[in-house]
This record gives sequence, C-alpha cells and structure tokens, in this order.
Amino acid sequence: MDKVITEIEKLREEIRYHNHRYYSLDDPEISDAEYDRLFKRLLDLEQRHPELATPESPTKMVGARPQETFSEVKHRLPMLSLGNSFSDQDIRDFDTRIKRFLGDDSPVDYTVEPKIDGLAVELVYENGSLTVASTRGDGFTGENVTRNIKTILTIPLTLTQKKNTLPPPDLLEVRGEVYMELEAFEKLNQERVKRDLPPFANPRNAAAGSLRQLDPKITARRPLNMFCYGIGTISELSSDTHHELMTLLQQWGLRVNRPYIRICNTLTEVIDYCRHLEEIRAQFFFEIDGAVIKVNRLDLQARLGQKSRSPRWSMAFKFKPTQETTTIIRIDVQVGRTGALTPVAHLKPVELGGVVVRRATLHNQEEIDKKDIREGDLVIVQRAGDVIPEIVKAIKSKRTGKEKRFAMPSQCPVCGSGVVKREGEVVVRCPNPNCPAQVKGSFKHFVSKGAMNIDGLGDKIIAQLIRKRLIEEEADLYRLSFDNLITLDKIKERSANNLLKAIENSKKTTLAKFIYALGIRHVGEYVAAILADHFGDIELLGKATEEELIAIEGIGPQIVESITAYFEDRHNRDHINRLIQVGIELEAPSPPPTSPAAGKTFVITGTLSSMKRSEAKEVITRNGGRMASYVGGNTDYLIAGESPGSKLRKAKDSGVSILSEDEFLKLLGKDHE
Ligand code: IVH
Repeated sequence: MDKVITEIEKLREEIRYHNHRYYSLDDPEISDAEYDRLFKRLLDLEQRHPELATPESPTKMVGARPQETFSEVKHRLPMLSLGNSFSDQDIRDFDTRIKRFLGDDSPVDYTVEPKIDGLAVELVYENGSLTVASTRGDGFTGENVTRNIKTILTIPLTLTQKKNTLPPPDLLEVRGEVYMELEAFEKLNQERVKRDLPPFANPRNAAAGSLRQLDPKITARRPLNMFCYGIGTISELSSDTHHELMTLLQQWGLRVNRPYIRICNTLTEVIDYCRHLEEIRAQFFFEIDGAVIKVNRLDLQARLGQKSRSPRWSMAFKFKPTQETTTIIRIDVQVGRTGALTPVAHLKPVELGGVVVRRATLHNQEEIDKKDIREGDLVIVQRAGDVIPEIVKAIKSKRTGKEKRFAMPSQCPVCGSGVVKREGEVVVRCPNPNCPAQVKGSFKHFVSKGAMNIDGLGDKIIAQLIRKRLIEEEADLYRLSFDNLITLDKIKERSANNLLKAIENSKKTTLAKFIYALGIRHVGEYVAAILADHFGDIELLGKATEEELIAIEGIGPQIVESITAYFEDRHNRDHINRLIQVGIELEAPSPPPTSPAAGKTFVITGTLSSMKRSEAKEVITRNGGRMASYVGGNTDYLIAGESPGSKLRKAKDSGVSILSEDEFLKLLGKDHE
C-alpha cells in the first residue's frame, strides 16, 4: 500500500509540474502522449484505490491557476476538460456508460468533430457586443485576454443576424479553441531562430504564447484564429441539438468548423468518422490531435451532466501521437554520396504514428547548437507524414550533467580526410571522391529505382563488392560474372542469376534515368527529365554552354554551375564513355503527342490504390510527363490519393489543378483497372 501511496504522490507532483509548464509557461517538457500516460496511470490508481482520491488531485482539476500578470475572469459556468479515449473499445464503453446513465438502451445520436490543438477561450457577448474574453485557466477562473482576442480579425466584435434567422441572445458565452495555422507557425519559428529566440515546440504553444502576451500589439502580429465549438451561459436557448447550435453560432457571425461536424446515428459511424478524421489529419491547415464525440441532443446533455473535470456527454478520441519523448543514446555522423556529413541521433526506440522510430536527423552542427542538443538528452521527437523524424527540442531540466555536447569531427569518420566547409554553406563535407562512404553512396544512388533500377542490389551486396574490389566504378557492375557473385556471402546460385539478369535488364534505359544516375549535384529526377527532354542526347548535354542551360525553364544558376563543372572534368566524361561501352543503351523519351500528360508536371500526395508511386511515375514519364516531389511554380497537376499530405494544401493555395486517382487514370486514357 505504501508503494501505491508513494506512486500516486509522485504522479500528482509530476503532473502538477507538467501542468505548470504547459498551461502557465507554454513550454512543455514532455510530449502530450507521455502526459496522457502519466494521467491515465494516476486515474487508474485512484479508481482502484478510491480511499486515496482527493479533490486536490490533478485528475479532479482542469488546467492551471491564471497568471498574476493578467486580471482574472470568473467563468459563470466552469470550463471543463474532456475525458480521453484511445481505442474503438473505449468509444464503445463511453456509449455503454451513457446508455446506462440514461437508463435507456435506445440509440443515441452523436456528433463527431475535429479536436483542434490550441487553447480554450471563452468570449462573452452582451447585447451582441464582445465584452470579455478569457482563457480557461483552472476552469473556474481564467485570464482576461480581451484586448488580445480583439486583435484576431475573424472574431466578431459584434454579433450579426442573417435574414430570416434568429437574433443573437442578450447574453451569450461562446467557447472555442484559439489556434495557429501550421504554415504561420513554421514561419514564426523560423523568424525566432533567426533572432536567436527559442522556437515554440508546437503550434499550440505558439498560439498560447501569442495570446498571453501583455502587449496586444505583439498578439496582433501573430496570425491567430478561432473555431467555436460550444457555449457556456446563454440567455435564451433556441436549439435542440449541438449541431443546430453550431449553425446558429455561425449565423451570428462566429467561426465554426461546420463542414467537419458530422452527425453519427450509430456507434459504427462514430468510430468510422473518428478514424477518417485521423486519416485526413494532415489535410487540415491546423493541428488536430483527435476527434471530439458529443451527445447531439442538448436535453440529454443536460441530463447526463458532468463529473468533476469533464462532462459525461462528451469525450475526446485521441489520435496516435506524432510527437514523443525519448532519449538520445548517441549521435553518429553519416557520410552521404556527395560527401556531406550529417549528424544522426540514435534514439531509444519509440513509436510515432504507428511506426517504431530509432533514428532522427539532426541536419547539421548549426541546428544542434541552436537547439542545444546533447548525447544522452531526453528529447521530444516528431514525425509528420512521410518526413524523416526530427528532434524538436531537448528537455534541459532533465539533464544529469552526464550529457555530452556534440561537435562535428574535423576528419571524415569513414576515410579520415580533413573535412571542408564551403563558403555560405552550413554543411561540412568529405572532399575525397574515393571515400568508401561516397563510393558506396554513389553505387546505391546509381542502382536505385529512379536511376538504373537494378533490383536486388542492396546495401550489403554493394559493400561486399566494394570490399572485394570487384567494383570500383559503376561500369564495373556490368562486368560482373556469375563466378564473382557466387563468392559473396548469402548469395546462392539463384540469386546470383537473378542479379545478373537485373543488371543486364538495366542496360536499356531512358536518357532521363541515366542523367539522374550520374549523380550530378543538384540534378534530381525532375531536373534530369527536363534535361533529357531538352537535349535528347547525352553528348549534346555534355557540350551545352552555360547560356544554353540557363535558358531552359526550371534550370537555375546553381544547377548550371554544377552541370558544367561535371562535364568539364575529363574523369566524368571518361566515366560516361565507359558506361556506354559496357552496353548501356539510351532511348530518348518521345512522348506520345496525343497524351494530355505530355509536357506536364505531376506531383503525388497520399497513397494510390491502383499502383505504387514508382509505377505512377513510370506511366507519367511514358506519356511524356514529369513527376516532381514538391508542389512548385511548374506543377500542373497534384494527384491526391488516400490520406493526402500537406502538398494538397499547398496545391490548393497555389491554384494547381487537383486530380483524384480516377481522374488521373482517365487523363491517361486508362479506366479504373
Ligand atoms: S468540446 C467540456 N470541441 O479540447 C469541454 N473541445 O481536451 C467541451 N477542444 O478543453 C469541449 N477542439 O479546449 C470541444 N471541437 C472541440 C474541441 C475541443 C478542441 C479542446 C478544448 C477542451 C479540450 C479537452
């Protein structure tokens, strides 16, 4: 029992501390997921030992006391928090509890809507005018942020009445979430880093930090926005359901996330829509960290009432976290094909959005210094969509003194050459083109899908071939024999033959793929395709002048410089000749003139159901189009598959035509297969 008491006390103390970091300082030290785990553990213990529960426990309280710097506002009705659910079963249990409480087994209608990750605010409108705005604070008393709230342009200072609709009530307390859009958040953080200020950990902290500024002029410069999701006191209530109420708020000029508020008549619909919102979460301009399920009928809400810190009629369904807390075991340096040295953090494995993450990129020394990240640090890692995981920040208060600062080595960790840093670059490079790491990197690039596409030639085989001196340059791959391959570890007769076949097949390729395979700096697949289209012949490309190159749309000065430098070097020209001599045959792409895809640039976001990305790229290229990774000025079409990412937003913003998978297939003259 003593052990339980100690654990409970420790948990309460920890949670109070983290509440303070989160609510008062807007600078959390642990991920939301970690906080949720601590909270759930405490809830479980208190439920199992009700004799140890006390009203002062953080499980019975909401948020934190307001800061003294703001005047206080007492909420007429307490601003509550929500219970959390994490699984389908939790949602079913919620429904069972509701029916049990109502003493009625008949179906209950719910609404489900996105849970916006910002901070809760209450706006008081008296006789239609905004008089007071406050933060939630501890639920009973919040901070008076009226002057700051009034700088948010989308919050009406007076309520309006649309034709043939109900007038606003004399007294209306509206509740909602103030948040910062993702793009604005990233911009704000970039500016802060430039000015040597610590970046905000996430948009929520940025929003909270911006709203709780003593000088409203600062708030005014921060792009904040608000969605209303409920009410406190209202002088006359003229709707029967939550959904109707949201429509009314909208009619009075308040911002409501209505397109995404869905009425669900069955539990299956509730669960499906929660999952759907999780799938499309990356499409929102702002962060959503879950879905909120509410009993739709207001009379039932009133009957259900509330527990100490949350209503019985509503619950949050929390999405899988994309941020987590973990430890950096050590920091290693990786040498890439271009010789760039990249520091990589090896992490204590942690699950992020359903994937176990073990490593995160630290980009470069400058980034490490700015964020003051050390080996042994407890850190917050994050993974957004298919982006490489990265470290958001180190939790400095958890340092024991044993953490080690990291410094980029002055010598290449692979070949020992002294590293160099070009002027104006933050990247440190190994200058030795014969560095094994660079050689291996070049081979890996050469055989990769978008380049020569040699299936089955993985990392380990390449490393062995280099070690055994069977390959020194790319052309050597085409000189490999069965006898050479069979000497390698883990290679049996069949795989040796398959590999030889794959190498042979790769000889027939397109000019674009070949240019890309050469690994010229700044020449990615997209640029390679432009060059292939323009020159149609590798020799002509080799002879192109700077003037000729710069005149091509999509080719900038950096690319021009790197292409001319590449072809000026005799070794590179010899290298190409040797590749042609060993039998590489280049077919210049001649797009079928009839295809509407010819000459167009496509970008894909999300998953396609009928083909892999690499296959889509093949089809596009075969039809004379190009595929790019990012939405830019040259993009003609964005193909939006299942669970599209932020590219969809970018495309919408830049007026790029958006194609569904079906529309894409139709455009290529293929019907759904
Ligand atoms: S309804 C009684 N709807 O989530 C509280 N809350 O974790 C009723 N939140 O305190 C809240 N989006 O700050 C509701 N669509 C939404 C929401 C939402 C975000 C926040 C809100 C609440 C917190 C609970």
